[in-house]
Amino acid sequence: MKLIKSIYVIATAGVALGLASCGASGDNPGYEYAPQMYNSVPYEGLTQIVNEDEGQWLSTREDEKGEFFNSNVNNPNRMNMREPVANTVPRTKDGMLPYRLKAFELEKAAEIQNPVELTDQVLAEGQQLYLQYCTACHGINGEGDGLAGQVIGGVANLKGGAYVNLPEGHIFHVIMKGKGRMGAHGSQIPQERIWKIVHYVKQEIQKQ
Ligand code: HEC
Repeated sequence: MKLIKSIYVIATAGVALGLASCGASGDNPGYEYAPQMYNSVPYEGLTQIVNEDEGQWLSTREDEKGEFFNSNVNNPNRMNMREPVANTVPRTKDGMLPYRLKAFELEKAAEIQNPVELTDQVLAEGQQLYLQYCTACHGINGEGDGLAGQVIGGVANLKGGAYVNLPEGHIFHVIMKGKGRMGAHGSQIPQERIWKIVHYVKQEIQKQ
């Protein structure tokens, strides 16, 4: 009998607690299970907890504020992340502006000048990069006879016909965005390096 009684007591307490925790409304979240899942202790980029008492009940902080209070409340818009300065454009890692032309905007791209100054060092790096990324298809001399090129077929002979006169911006764009059967390399090669390859193609392969 005693056992059944205590089971009743425990069950009743359980149901009462369960019902109490359903009492969420408005700003009151009710009892939260594992509150760190809702309120991040580390800073989050786009949200900020400005209530100093938030998470007080499990706080071990020396400043006696709540566990979830984000201390740098001075940033605007209740964000931890700083907003970029107005009218500025972020640069890529190699200091270039982001390349925003779309694959079909080849004509516009053709007008872009090579921003990398031509030096012996740049040519040497361009050669290295060309060997790494282009020879498989275009061949060491750019004649479209690389081993992979022979398999896929239709690879441009960079020394042939109209290809010799391609503007540097055009070649840059084709490497960046791809063209026809040639895939885009923009996600693999940073812009500055592509411009070095372009120098190498113009100076050494096409001798222009
Ligand atoms: C997977 C093989 C492959 C690789 C790698 C490759 N290309 Fe190509 N490339 C091609 C093919 C195929 C074409 C012909 C595209 C077409 O018109 O269908 C081409 C075309 C070109 C053209 C002519 C574009 C035009 O306007 O017709 C240039 C310039 C060029 N590639 C340069 C390069 C350079 C530089 C690299 C190294 C960064 C490179 N390619 C890497 C296969 C490749």
